[in-house]
Amino acid sequence: MSIRIRPLLITDIAQIHEIEKLSFSEPWSKRMFFSELEAQGYNHSLVAVDNASDHVVGYCCFWILEGDEIHINNIATHPDYRRKGIAQTLMREATAMGLQQCAQSVTLEVRESNTAARSFYERLGFCQVGKRIGYYCKPKEDALILRKPI
Ligand SMILES: CC(C)(COP(=O)(O)OP(=O)(O)OC[C@H]1O[C@@H](n2cnc3c(N)ncnc32)[C@H](O)[C@@H]1OP(=O)(O)O)[C@@H](O)C(=O)NCCC(=O)NCCS
Repeated sequence: MSIRIRPLLITDIAQIHEIEKLSFSEPWSKRMFFSELEAQGYNHSLVAVDNASDHVVGYCCFWILEGDEIHINNIATHPDYRRKGIAQTLMREATAMGLQQCAQSVTLEVRESNTAARSFYERLGFCQVGKRIGYYCKPKEDALILRKPI
């Protein structure tokens, strides 16, 4: 399939919030996505758009801490579009943007039981560097801290 990557727009939020609810037991609220659009200088959000339908099929919200790291705050692909390279393309674009600001690594947290996401990050070359005990709710669970040098 053919996709394009572009910045998140306010008009995308209803669509990505539907994907969010299908993807997480503790979904972000629309308000949280709106706040990612408030320009702070370090916060960035990208969406993947299916060129055939013009639907948003994935998104990634991240922070670039200049000269230091890219921190992935949220990433998801619509369930009907998974295993087509969409999240990998979003991560590649986020990494390219971070490299322009001399980021040295990408970091994120993932639920210990999220085997799909853990396989995805392992495939991309991430390694576990720590754990946050009881970080998540619904259900209560530890987060693994993953990191990849770039
Ligand atoms: C994790 C997630 C974002 C991956 O998105 P995706 O667009 O399907 O990922 P990609 O197609 O780019 O995957 C690239 C590679 O990662 C690995 N991978 C991705 N999903 C996988 C899965 N469910 N099981 C095993 N490996 C997987 C594979 O090696 C895949 O390549 P392949 O399909 O050629 O084998 C998606 O499963 C998702 O939205 N999950 C729910 C939300 C979530 O958990 N987000 C992460 C929170 S930390």
